[in-house]
Amino acid sequence: LTTISVKTGTQSSIITIGESWTDAVKHLPGKEVVIITDENIYRLYNNDFPDFPIIKIAAGESGKNLKIIEEIAGKMLDTGIGRGGFILAIGGGVVCDIAGFLASVYMRGIRFGFISTSLLSQVDASIGGKNAVNIGIAKNMIGTFNQPDFVICDPSMLHTLPDDEYLSGLAELIKMGLILDKNLVGDIEENYSGILSRDMVLMESLISRSVNLKAAIVSGDEKETGRRILLNFGHTFGHPIETLSMKKHGFAVASGMRIAAAISTRSGLLQPEDNERLANLLDRFNFTNDYQISSQKFEELIAMDKKKTGGKINFVVLESLGKAAVREFTLNELMEAYKSTVV
Ligand SMILES: NC(=O)c1ccc[n+]([C@@H]2O[C@H](COP(=O)([O-])OP(=O)(O)OC[C@H]3O[C@@H](n4cnc5c(N)ncnc54)[C@H](O)[C@@H]3O)[C@@H](O)[C@H]2O)c1
Repeated sequence: LTTISVKTGTQSSIITIGESWTDAVKHLPGKEVVIITDENIYRLYNNDFPDFPIIKIAAGESGKNLKIIEEIAGKMLDTGIGRGGFILAIGGGVVCDIAGFLASVYMRGIRFGFISTSLLSQVDASIGGKNAVNIGIAKNMIGTFNQPDFVICDPSMLHTLPDDEYLSGLAELIKMGLILDKNLVGDIEENYSGILSRDMVLMESLISRSVNLKAAIVSGDEKETGRRILLNFGHTFGHPIETLSMKKHGFAVASGMRIAAAISTRSGLLQPEDNERLANLLDRFNFTNDYQISSQKFEELIAMDKKKTGGKINFVVLESLGKAAVREFTLNELMEAYKSTVV
């Protein structure tokens, strides 16, 4: 069992990796708890849920919107959850995002905790206190920064995760190594088969290291004005790929990381052999790179994303495996750099 804490200005959050999810009750208040989960998790795990009212939502990204927030809030009112209430989310990134956002606004804010069930949410989505829902296809447009009291990451739950969801989360784990920790990259390379067989001891250790890295960044920069930007490595091109090719998040980010590494190499920042090592690692786990997107389409979508950051693009480059940095690009410069990598 590994325990890691995220400490921001006024809040702190305890993350455990390797604790059995069925022990969550230890972290809960005795009453006024409501469980939010999705239909898949409910079907697989509800026999062992703690004995509190359950609100079940449809699985998947399409339900991560304001309508569901209103619906669940109505059900919570009916259940008698008041200002002293507590939301326990049991699910992947979608359930955690919905529950975290709702907890932040329900009666102006109640406490909440996560049992994080997917690899993507264990290494990324449930850590760091960002909670948001979508407006149409515009992702995470309405949300809050608010840390849960606790996050439980139990690697045994990963055994029921579909293969593509598991790989999607693995891409984010690989990203953490690539941007911050070259030893983590080496250990992922060396433990290829243990990772694919979801060896619990191994996964507990890899997830813990990844959470540690993210917790340190978030603790120093909760609102993404500094080092937290590094976590966006692969996302500038990954987001358009996700939107246009309908690939799962991690698969799109994997392609985005290849592009960002190629741009880093073209810009003289990353050694060609490191770029090749990165590509080999992604190939090995079968992260295919088969999107068909014109540079013009990329440009349109990156321009839309750019509005959120006020004009300039903070593009995350690699200087070596395990060391990322932020470089400011204009859209034009970035697209020229991209075009030079696709001959
Ligand atoms: N808040 C953040 O900082 C942050 C960071 C990254 C991603 N996200 C968000 O996270 C979401 C993606 O997370 P996700 O990939 O976990 O998606 P998800 O919650 O939709 O889970 C993926 C699928 O796996 C199923 N599932 C989850 N755990 C399972 C288990 N143990 N066994 C069997 N099935 C299981 C779910 O029911 C769902 O069908 C996106 O909405 C993204 O925007 C948020």
